[in-house]
Amino acid sequence: MRTVFFVAPYLMDATLKYVSAAASIPGIRLVVLTQDSASKLPAGARHYSVANALDPECLAAACRDVMRTTGGAHRIIGILENAQEAIARTRELLGLPGIDLATAERFRDKGVMKNTLRDAGVACARFARLHSAADARKFIAEVGFPVVLKPPAGAGCRGTYRVNNTAELDVALSESQPSATREVLAEEFITGEEHSFDTIVIDGEVKFQNILRYLPGPLDVTRNEWIQWCVLAPRDISGPEYDPIRKVGVAAVKALGLRTGMTHMEWFRRKDGSAVVNEVGARPPGAQFTTVMGYVYDRSLYHAWAQAVIDERVDGPFERKYAAGCAYFRGPGMGRVAGIDGLDEAQRKVGKIVVETQLPVVGAGKASGYEGDGFAIVRHPDTEVVQAALRTLIETVKVRYV
Ligand SMILES: Nc1ncnc2c1ncn2[C@@H]1O[C@H](COP(=O)(O)OP(=O)(O)OP(=O)(O)O)[C@@H](O)[C@H]1O
Ligand SMILES: [Mg+2]
Repeated sequence: MRTVFFVAPYLMDATLKYVSAAASIPGIRLVVLTQDSASKLPAGARHYSVANALDPECLAAACRDVMRTTGGAHRIIGILENAQEAIARTRELLGLPGIDLATAERFRDKGVMKNTLRDAGVACARFARLHSAADARKFIAEVGFPVVLKPPAGAGCRGTYRVNNTAELDVALSESQPSATREVLAEEFITGEEHSFDTIVIDGEVKFQNILRYLPGPLDVTRNEWIQWCVLAPRDISGPEYDPIRKVGVAAVKALGLRTGMTHMEWFRRKDGSAVVNEVGARPPGAQFTTVMGYVYDRSLYHAWAQAVIDERVDGPFERKYAAGCAYFRGPGMGRVAGIDGLDEAQRKVGKIVVETQLPVVGAGKASGYEGDGFAIVRHPDTEVVQAALRTLIETVKVRYV
């Protein structure tokens, strides 16, 4: 029986899908280190309460306590972006295999990441580390508007600004407040269609790769609360339009030095077809993307992730049987969900190819992130049918708030 620790500060529905997958790997005693309650855990996963699941000392003490009775441990894993460094540090404290702290930092700090990628010949935005308003003006004098300001290791678009002119710069600077102790990253603005490139890597080799298209990009979605957006997994990703990202994506993952695990990369396709990498996470994607990928291949990518990080293997083949996509439901206004209109019509028009839904709950507070208050996933062998259905969903379903 191998002991595997799963670090999960909070047990969100999305997290529990990974917990269940990990618990299903044969010969595993899965111990979930969490601040959340045991009642949420699926059968087969053991609960271990920690005061701070982002504190390596606290995590290591919990692991050592368990290891006193188990005699050792096999792996420590987790999917949360902002837990990656704490997990890596804990791994080092315990002497367990997996991503070390230096590698985790390359994936977390967007400046370190871009320098590493540049050195490997991977195109990414020019950037500067800002410690003052003057630094921002200097950078803009070099690259021109628009620029993007963001925290060096942010997630979920929080604190991320597109800055088009001096007036917007003043607003972004007064909100982000760069200083000697508070670094802000500035990047040249890359114009292009946003995509993801998600991989499973085993022993340094990319064994699985997938491409998803964001419609529109996350920053537009975050800045416009009314936008209902979609992600599309085209059935066929073998065409020449994806040649650049296949090359660049694999090079980027290798340059960042991941030995084994799953990566989620965001990249832009510029008008000339070239691929520019925005960022890469050493973790699976969020926002139902892993579920969507599963519908494409008609097999669980949660399970594939668990096999990769626990058993260091991936079992092919991965045959693309369908196109799939997810439409995210949200709407204008604030407060609580008052109602959802258009569901009957949407059901009539595209219900046949809807494979999974989570509808906004009337009375629930509006979600703050771009994932919105609910979603519907569709799939069909024909990419155009999926794309049309996604459009129908976001045009027909309307969420009201009070
Ligand atoms: N240099 C850039 N040029 C154009 N758009 C950008 C740039 N940097 C970021 N963006 C936009 O802002 C979004 C969020 O940026 P980024 O991915 O760096 O932040 P994040 O907090 O990690 O967000 P997430 O968790 O959604 O990935 C991107 O998906 C993209 O839409
Ligand atoms: Mg991002």
